Amino acid sequence: MIQPLEFFPYVAQELYAEKTSVIKCAEKYGTPLFIYSETAIKKAYQALDKSLEGIPHQICYAMKANSNLSILKLIKSMGGGVDTVSGGELFRAKKAGIKPDRIVFSGVGKSVKEIEQALKYSQKASVALINVESLEELDAIAIVAKRLKKTASIGFRFNPDVDALTHKHISTGKNENKFGMTKPEILQALEKYKKHPKIKISGISIHIGSQLTNVYPLRNAFQECAELFELLSDSLPQSLKFIDLGGGVGVQYQNETTIPIDSYAGIIKEIFKRPKFQQYKPKLLLEPGRLIIANSGILVSKILYRKYREDKNFVIVDAGMTELIRPALYEAHHGVLSVKKHLGPTQPIDLVGPICETGDFLARGANLPTGIAQGEYVAVLSAGAYASAMSSQYNSRPRAAEILVSGTKIKVIRKRETERSLILNEEIK
Ligand code: LLP
Repeated sequence: MIQPLEFFPYVAQELYAEKTSVIKCAEKYGTPLFIYSETAIKKAYQALDKSLEGIPHQICYAMKANSNLSILKLIKSMGGGVDTVSGGELFRAKKAGIKPDRIVFSGVGKSVKEIEQALKYSQKASVALINVESLEELDAIAIVAKRLKKTASIGFRFNPDVDALTHKHISTGKNENKFGMTKPEILQALEKYKKHPKIKISGISIHIGSQLTNVYPLRNAFQECAELFELLSDSLPQSLKFIDLGGGVGVQYQNETTIPIDSYAGIIKEIFKRPKFQQYKPKLLLEPGRLIIANSGILVSKILYRKYREDKNFVIVDAGMTELIRPALYEAHHGVLSVKKHLGPTQPIDLVGPICETGDFLARGANLPTGIAQGEYVAVLSAGAYASAMSSQYNSRPRAAEILVSGTKIKVIRKRETERSLILNEEIK
């Protein structure tokens, strides 16, 4: 598991990304700036991959966490596939050259157009698995498959009614959440579609939530999923090909205890030891997002102004909720550091953005150097996942640039948007 600062060390009193000076990047490419470490992404991916040795598996990176094309290509180069949730993500996956047999299509409401995209992903092939979220959605998939003369390989997304013990906005495995199907709903769909000529029931999937730091809910959910896998396999002419155990493994943002990768792999190996799994030999699919990318990235921002009051200190920077909405949306904590190391005292500071919203803050009460000055840079840590991907142009702010660093090599993987980018689709003649 990658730590927030593992690939962003201080070298001679200033922060680096691998072997590259953060200050030099900020000066050359401007701020706000996302910097990703290629080595960190590789290390996170390969650690998970290695922990699963002995189990036939495919990692399908949840590209919603960060869908930059260069990152997708990096994932692909290590043998990874992707978990997609929209037509736009399928489009990006195709642009990155990800092969259809490494693609899962999830998402709670797939439109007819998106179902067509998944079934016609490449000239010859459809995506490996479409995870179905309701009987009505499966009806729609069957109609489209018939019309296109394609066979849809589908999996049922199972909602096991398990509390994942995470923030309520990123909890997905309880009955009160909109996601997945209950066991009776799945059995009803199975009855209706088990002999359908254009629907191939090939998997079962589960994803109970994100930023999970406790292994027990996952273990319970996996076991329930395994039981359902066996029930379905027993009642079909051939067993299910895939068991898709989703994503959700949490990362370290501050001092939280996280799930060690070996414990995670351990609860997966437990289910693969079941006699029926030995007999049916399904392929394991996993959909990690945050685990691969969160601690591989930082957000660099420049200090515009300071406002020090008797009972409150604000540092106003040029990044805000448009680049990182997680603190506002989930009360998430991200570490912040001054890019230039100060040796003097520190004090609690609210690091806030320039956007006209009270909720526009990056960190509350961050321990920053008292001497931190206008024009200096700060780095917001753990900003690889769900930061750039959730960014917006609110307040008519062009989106930030993104660079990928490997040692001393720098690649711009997304140019900074311009003011023209803001109005591109509004200039109607
Ligand atoms: N698979 C499915 C079906 C998902 O819905 C998700 C995330 C993942 C995999 C990947 O989960 P991960 O391994 O990254 O935890 N914006 C929120 C997170 C939303 C997650 C949505 N689904 C945040 O910033 O915390």
